[in-house]
Amino acid sequence: MQNTLDKLNELKIQVQNCKKCSLCEKRNNIVFSDGCENAPIMFIGEAPGKNEDETGIPFIGRAGQLLRKFLFEVGYKQEDFYIANTIKCRPPENRKPTKEEKNACFEYLKAQIELVNPKVIVLVGSTALESFIFDKKLTITKARGQVFEIDNRKFVPIFHPSYLLRYHSMDEGSPRYLFKKDLELIKGFI
Ligand code: URA
Ligand code: SF4
Repeated sequence: MQNTLDKLNELKIQVQNCKKCSLCEKRNNIVFSDGCENAPIMFIGEAPGKNEDETGIPFIGRAGQLLRKFLFEVGYKQEDFYIANTIKCRPPENRKPTKEEKNACFEYLKAQIELVNPKVIVLVGSTALESFIFDKKLTITKARGQVFEIDNRKFVPIFHPSYLLRYHSMDEGSPRYLFKKDLELIKGFI
């Protein structure tokens, strides 16, 4: 019997060979995941950036380091989370993924969700939000911190950490304050 890790590794090999969209042409590495395959919380970001493409690890650049710093401060442990993105290959100039790219790559993300089977999915930023909650009027500013129950799973949107790079205040109501508050709320679910 294959366990979850075996199945995820098999999926990763499939992604390494994927040519379903043109982003395969310029990638140095696919960026599949980081964290624990049995984690109760799964973070879903947008797409790999330069550092991620170079290392194959999600959220390892400036924004990622900020996310990890907040997770550590709030008391998350490595085994609490699994991290992935809506698409696995870096878009040129860090542009947003297109609908076609997201659709092409969605089967891999869906399989990751099914295998990891987290209690809570954290939608990191507007791209991840739009991939799961189909409400054009719902901006990330409105959606963040709300809990959406879909198929017996909680989905919680949060700001993307790249947004926080521009705002340093931790004052009540500031982006960083709200980000930390949302991470605390999410941690309370496990
Ligand atoms: N931003 C994302 O959305 N994902 C990453 O992996 C890195 C930066
Ligand atoms: Fe395949 Fe996804 Fe990479 Fe496109 S972004 S080539 S669909 S793995």
